[in-house]
Amino acid sequence: MRFRITPEPWTKLATSAVVIPLFEDEEPAQGFPAELDSLLGGLLAELKETGEWKGKFGQLMTVHRPAGLSSPRAILLGAGKQGSLTVSALRRLMTLLMNKLKGQNLTSIGVLLRDQKDAPAAAQAAVEGLLVGSFDVGEFKTNEKNREFSGEVVLAWQGDLTSDEPEIEKAIRQGEILGDATNLARSLVNQPANRLHPVRLAEKATEISGRFGLEIEILGEPEMKEREMNCILAVSQGSDQPARFIILRHLKAPDPSRPPVVLIGKGVTFDSGGLSLKPAQSMEDMKNDKAGACAVVAAMGAIAQLQLPANVIALLPAVENLPGGRAQKPGDVIRSMSGKTVEVLNTDAEGRLILADALHFATSLEPDCVIDIATLTGAVVVALGQVQAGIFSNDEALFNDFMKSAAISGERFWRLPLDDDYRRDIESRVADIKNVGSRWGGAITGAKFLQEFVGDTPWCHIDMAGVDSFPDNDELKGPTGFGVRTLTEFVILRHSLPEA
Ligand code: BES
Ligand code: MN
Ligand code: ZN
Repeated sequence: MRFRITPEPWTKLATSAVVIPLFEDEEPAQGFPAELDSLLGGLLAELKETGEWKGKFGQLMTVHRPAGLSSPRAILLGAGKQGSLTVSALRRLMTLLMNKLKGQNLTSIGVLLRDQKDAPAAAQAAVEGLLVGSFDVGEFKTNEKNREFSGEVVLAWQGDLTSDEPEIEKAIRQGEILGDATNLARSLVNQPANRLHPVRLAEKATEISGRFGLEIEILGEPEMKEREMNCILAVSQGSDQPARFIILRHLKAPDPSRPPVVLIGKGVTFDSGGLSLKPAQSMEDMKNDKAGACAVVAAMGAIAQLQLPANVIALLPAVENLPGGRAQKPGDVIRSMSGKTVEVLNTDAEGRLILADALHFATSLEPDCVIDIATLTGAVVVALGQVQAGIFSNDEALFNDFMKSAAISGERFWRLPLDDDYRRDIESRVADIKNVGSRWGGAITGAKFLQEFVGDTPWCHIDMAGVDSFPDNDELKGPTGFGVRTLTEFVILRHSLPEA
């Protein structure tokens, strides 16, 4: 999909279709709707009259050979209530639109943007929305051709542009990078465990690094043993697939000694639970347990492509959690890389184990801050459902910066607490700490476990177990690519500011 803007009047667009947003509550006899109605020879008024056209969010109607337009098709797009079309809503609307259009054989689409105060932000969001709407999860179907839209999109504005064209063009470019990165994460998550194990994930990360100019270092099991990453190795030992520890570096801050932002992603390419085996149904979606790592790889690609003047290091512990003959057993005690001992009472709480070593490794890099993102607990899905991710932080300034980035990306995060009273739940009788708490507050005890390994480093933990993929009736089918855009926006924001 290619994007451009045009200063031409939208009525003159000669694309295969022109998409025209209309609000539910705008007066048909005045202003823009009246203008459109006369271009359509009175059709809009008629459709309103019969109730065929309401303008509800996401409604689509194609009008062929509209008399007053240069394009052979006008696609009316319901935009909901006037004033409720925020930048986030516009992004979603564009995703819905592209979901419906991608099956049609259109070679080019004109999209009219109306009533958007911040033209660059609207352009970026529209581009992101259209790109993620074009993604197709049916990669492995043999009897259907690829249904992604690969034509050209021309963005046009109603009325005069209030921002500079170069500024909008830059926003479009950023939207393309972020939309593509989101789809990259989605296609990685979409790879089943027989096609993507830790070694393959490392190969993919190598490809992506080469493409975008990141430094990459991959630790195999001998190197991990040498560094005493024993928690990662303990999780991995029940699988025949060897573990990998993937390190990506983008060191492009004007001051090379500026402490890096460290991003960590949980990369469990399949989570069977290990000996604490999951029931079959709970295992169905466990190829998604690498979604955190995929989000971080894709965000790093975007960060490199955007050539951000920032120092960023990504750490991706990649393992498969299986109950093989050498698998770790409930009751095992392991000495983590940090030296803290962990009693493993449930081998299905493996994410926190691999993250423990990664977090400890991160603190040794003397970072500016550490953000980890993981499909960590079923408990966060119970708490927040499939709408918001859980977020935890030990640092108010970092948390505020992160939430500013989330406001730009439109991804939703809800803060959960880290009170020390929750720490009691993971005290072990035999070791420093155990890897599961009681039944209650499971997302929080997971986060408290991780906190043991971050020390005083400013840190955010994102539990994205509920939002890694959506049910099929949603506009984002299959893996969502959650986190890619916020992590990238966070690096833009954090390192566009002078050092504190
Ligand atoms: N990968 C799962 C968490 C998960 C659950 C992700 C549902 C997506 C949907 C994680 O490794 C896990 O199994 N967590 C356990 C922890 C428990 C044993 C303390 C859980 O949530 O049941
Ligand atoms: Mn698990
Ligand atoms: Zn898991």
